[in-house]
Amino acid sequence: MYLISELAAKVGVSRTTLLYYEKLGLLNGQKLSNGYRRYSERDMQRLVLIQQLQSAGLTLKECQSCLDVKLDKQTLVERLHQLEQDIEKKTQARQLLLGLLGERSQRDLHNQLSQSAPLEHLNWLSTQGYSEKEALRLKWLSKDMNEHDAYMKDFMEVFAPLERWGPGSQKDTLNAVSFLPKSAKNILEIGCGKGSSTLLLAEHCDAHITAIDNEPIAIEHLKRRLSQTAIGEKVSLTCASMTSLPFAASSFDAIWAEGCVYIMGMENALAQWKPLLKDNGILMVSDLVWLTDSPDEASKQFWQSEYPDMQTIATRLRQFDAMGYDIVGQFSLGREAWQNYWRPLQCRIDELASTMAASQALIDIGNEIAIYEKSAANEFTYQYFTLKLRA
Ligand SMILES: C[S@@+](CC[C@H](N)C(=O)[O-])C[C@H]1O[C@@H](n2cnc3c(N)ncnc32)[C@H](O)[C@@H]1O
Repeated sequence: MYLISELAAKVGVSRTTLLYYEKLGLLNGQKLSNGYRRYSERDMQRLVLIQQLQSAGLTLKECQSCLDVKLDKQTLVERLHQLEQDIEKKTQARQLLLGLLGERSQRDLHNQLSQSAPLEHLNWLSTQGYSEKEALRLKWLSKDMNEHDAYMKDFMEVFAPLERWGPGSQKDTLNAVSFLPKSAKNILEIGCGKGSSTLLLAEHCDAHITAIDNEPIAIEHLKRRLSQTAIGEKVSLTCASMTSLPFAASSFDAIWAEGCVYIMGMENALAQWKPLLKDNGILMVSDLVWLTDSPDEASKQFWQSEYPDMQTIATRLRQFDAMGYDIVGQFSLGREAWQNYWRPLQCRIDELASTMAASQALIDIGNEIAIYEKSAANEFTYQYFTLKLRA
């Protein structure tokens, strides 16, 4: 038997709380002739149950009904549902702390941050001393601060000699070019890479092309290519980031961004690039989109980690409309354009496999190719959207 203060100490609540429970009828101690109350082992166990039910989200009144077997099933189902959501949040919180303490894989930590707080993730990386360029690469590619430099070295070893740094084809780029008005005289190409599209734009548009990329290797390569052609003078190159473009407002009739808008996020890009366009300016963006509402589990999990903001075409169209853009034309990248990308990439992986077998970059690229091979152009694809800034 316990005195009230002993019971309070045993279950970890205050004496006042127990008196309140008495008042509510949740607890019925045996009143002694000297005015003290005594509690049995069973009272103590009842209190333990009340505490558990409270932790499950039940009010004291609901606890009482539950112990009296009078609580309706619907209330219990609702409490269970809420409890499961709370547990999920706590699990995430635990994972975050484990990650920050270095007791969990860095990749899992970066995936978690990237999915739940992408902007704060970048901000946090910059406070760890990473430049914007490296922070973005860490977020999208290496996902591991400890291995970042080695990862990027391997990654560039794979990509540096390849012409294409993303899926695409001449046919698709020219299809998108056909939506550009002839009056477009100044075009900004963002994330030009090694210039597959830059050369086509210069050749097929009566316009000056300003091409930017934040990778010096790509800019140098394109400079060399342009110097060997007659259209070279139609192109100016700048090494800059798409997140802080060094151009005055209303400088361009059109902006061209093939396969790169995900890097800063579609909604961010739609807002930040808008002031650079003249009235009724054109924005051509190609973006990875879902072609189905029920993708294969492997694709779903892969893109949840690689591009958490991947959307359906319908969602992107709603976003364009909300941001003040009208759709001029759109089409999906065909399978051949995907193969243009992954086949040379696979050959490169095969070439390097013996010397770089354990490289995480190589493993990741291999996994990406496997998903492309299986489901690209069926479950997901790049959608080319030509948009016009509403007046
Ligand atoms: C997937 S590739 C696409 C290249 C090209 N547009 C194409 O379709 O082949 C993405 C390009 O964006 C560039 N990039 C990555 N982050 C960037 C940034 N913050 N600012 C500018 N370019 C960036 C990369 O260097 C790369 O050339």
